[in-house]
Amino acid sequence: MTLSPLTQNDCSRASLLHQEVFFKGWSEIDFLDLLKEPHIHGLKITENGVLTSYILWRVVEDEAEILTLVVTPFFQKKGQGSQLLHELTNHLIQNGVSYLFIEVAEDNMAGRAFYERHSFLFRNKRPKYYRREGNNLVAALNLSKRLL
Ligand SMILES: CC(C)(COP(=O)(O)OP(=O)(O)OC[C@H]1O[C@@H](n2cnc3c(N)ncnc32)[C@H](O)[C@@H]1OP(=O)(O)O)[C@@H](O)C(=O)NCCC(=O)NCCS
Repeated sequence: MTLSPLTQNDCSRASLLHQEVFFKGWSEIDFLDLLKEPHIHGLKITENGVLTSYILWRVVEDEAEILTLVVTPFFQKKGQGSQLLHELTNHLIQNGVSYLFIEVAEDNMAGRAFYERHSFLFRNKRPKYYRREGNNLVAALNLSKRLL
């Protein structure tokens, strides 16, 4: 298992993983555009050279927001998500970032359990935020964690 920055070369595989786990996954172009932004960074885990998980975040002054966190299904519940979050949290603390935010869909029970396990607290709810099959809409839950 190797940890390193997510780069432009990873965008194609990152998009495939995103589309595998989310209803409206992001395209390769979406990832390329995000990584061009100066305040957006990513970290990845590879197994034998293959991308298995990644986390993408944005920092503005002393606040950061996780834009997405994905672990490929075969490697889920094996600690990769926690390791990426742990690395990110340490990096942010070292850089004086005080708050970390995430938005998670209300129907994403694994995501909610994961962030709860990592002591994120509920802040507010945005109704009808994510689109699902059949044009159904589900709420986004805004969570945060104080780092400093
Ligand atoms: C949510 C996600 C990132 C978790 O990553 P992971 O590597 O599977 O999680 P970990 O192995 O580090 O699990 C840490 C804790 O999270 C919770 N958790 C993780 N997956 C869970 C699941 N499917 N059901 C319930 N709790 C879960 C547990 O409390 C777990 O602790 P435990 O192993 O002691 O029970 C991963 O399941 C994923 O990529 N899901 C699809 C994309 C997504 O929903 N991303 C989050 C929203 S941005």
